[in-house]
Parts: sequence; C-alpha cells; structure tokens
Amino acid sequence: MYLQKRHRILRQSPALRSMVAETILSPNDFILPLFIVEGNSIKVEISSMPDYYRFSLDETVKEVKHLWSLGLKSVLLFIKCKEEFKDNKGTEALNPNGLMQRSIRAIKNAVPEICVMTDVALDPFSTFGHDGIVENNKIVNDATVEVLAAMSVSHAAAGADVVAPSDMMDGRIGSIRKALEDNNFTETGIMSYSAKYASCFYGPFRDALDSAPGFGDKKTYQMDFANSDEAVRETLADIEEGADIVMVKPGLPYLDIVQKLKTIVHVPVSIYQVSGEYAMIKAAAQNGWLQEDKAIIETLTSMKRAGASLIATYFAKQAVEILNK
Ligand code: PBG
Repeated sequence: MYLQKRHRILRQSPALRSMVAETILSPNDFILPLFIVEGNSIKVEISSMPDYYRFSLDETVKEVKHLWSLGLKSVLLFIKCKEEFKDNKGTEALNPNGLMQRSIRAIKNAVPEICVMTDVALDPFSTFGHDGIVENNKIVNDATVEVLAAMSVSHAAAGADVVAPSDMMDGRIGSIRKALEDNNFTETGIMSYSAKYASCFYGPFRDALDSAPGFGDKKTYQMDFANSDEAVRETLADIEEGADIVMVKPGLPYLDIVQKLKTIVHVPVSIYQVSGEYAMIKAAAQNGWLQEDKAIIETLTSMKRAGASLIATYFAKQAVEILNK
C-alpha cells in the first residue's frame, strides 16, 4: 500500500513521542488545596477522599515544607471552623487570630517563597453552610460581598499572596479589589472562581469541612451546568472588575468551558479538579478498575491541553512524585 502520509511515524518511539508532545505537565502547574483543623499533631483521613487528610496547623507546616522541597509552588488554604464559632455572617472569618489568619502567617513564615492562596467564602463559617448571608431563606448578595471584601483584606494582612473567592456573588471581585487598594495591599492577587457550577462533585469536600448546606442548594449563586455562554459573561465581568486569574470548576466535565474561555480571555485560566473527581479516580483505583498514576496524569494533561495554565488538584503532590520518577 502506498501512503503519502503515515500518521504513525511520529509515534514510533518514546523519544519521538516526547519530542512532538504538545502538552507537558510540570510542578509549576499545580495548586494543592489543604484542609486545616484546630489542634496539634492531627492528621485525619477524610472518609470520602482516601489518602487525603485534614491536618492541624503544626502538621500543615511540616507538609508545606515537604511540598516545597518536591517543587510545588502553591497551596490553597481551607479551614474547618469549629461549630461554636459559626454564625450567619461569618464573623469568625474576620478574626485576625482565626485559624485561617494564623495558618497564613505560619506557612509564610516557614516557607516564605511558596505562593499562599486562600479560600474566600462564608460556607465554612456559616451555620447554614451557605456561601452567603441568609435572610428569609435567601442568600443576600450585597451584604455578603461586604464580608468577602473584609475577609480578603484580613487574609492579605496576614500575608496571603492570592485571595480566591469561591462564592459566586455578583460584584465581589470589584469590591475585593477596591478594598485591597483602599488598604494598600497593592501586591495581593485575586484568583476568581469565575465559572463555578452548581455541581454534585463537591460532595466529599463538604464532608471534609463539614460545610454542606443546611437547607436548599447553591443553585441561586453557582451556575447551571447546562450553560456555557453564562461562563463567558461571568468571567469577562470578573476580569473587568480586577481578577488576575479566572477559574473553571469542576474540571474534567467542563473542559469545553476552559477551551472556550481560553480563546476569549487574556488572563491565566485555572481549573479545579474537585473532590468528587478525586474520589472517583481513587475509588476506581482501589477496586483495581483503573491504574491510578495513569489516570492522574491523563486527566491533568487533558486539563492543560484544554487551556488551563494552573490546576488546583488534590493529586498535586502525587502528580509531582510521578513526574519526578
Ligand atoms: C465553597 C467551596 C466548595 C469547594 C471549594 N470552595 C464547595 C461548594 O461550593 O459547595 C469545592 C471544592 C471541591 O469539591 O474540591 N465555597
């Protein structure tokens, strides 16, 4: 058979394949989420996230030193608020000596070079488990935004490099940017969860932080998974309001959104491989139905190929260990 073009030629050896690879994962791509709890010497596995732990701050600091030595550049902090500190307005989120603020200081102190990103949202602090203040069974936008702006300033004051609002209230990026400017935090970045969908894949995360909504769902603020133009509207608005990095969340089921945004926006696009995606791969691997390392690298590479230049993933440490092999 005569063929003018044989596509298999460039796939003949590992050397050739590596030379023509269009997407290469690196430790620089990853953001590792961390769950921090009060106490000392605590390391508790999250039942719906096998091999993933809640750490007390002392253990977190040890872990972050190790992560930095592996080549990871960034962590994203989430804290588990004690039940007695929760209220409707997220008051504890503004406590200058709260667990989040202490964690930021301790981590920046131990590993000053690492990029510390912080979650900005009310749900871990809310008696209702919602990302905003609740009035008459509704999530009120504008009063919530005020708290989110104050929370961001408080994280910046503690030393956060990037604040990451994950709440999906309208106008919060502009208010956060203004609050940072007003308080002279001119070097603090904003990574906006700009296209965050109302997803069932957040289930294990809500176990980790004990933050499941007490009533209703999050569909009046998180987006309908049937939509993609809406992701463009939301993301362009966030950039206009001052976001440095935008995000699509969850990850794998939303690669079309990443690709679409990538052709439209000119800021870095990040993606969040969320807790449910982690749990799916872990569960299949534990049953012997998938090869875990291969599933990790394939899914993360797909995210980068789609256009994500930053990937928040619970597999970040494992991925770096695989890449360093
Ligand atoms: C809440 C928040 C959630 C996640 C990150 N920030 C859950 C939610 O919106 O209910 C999910 C992350 C994950 O599932 O890994 N502000």
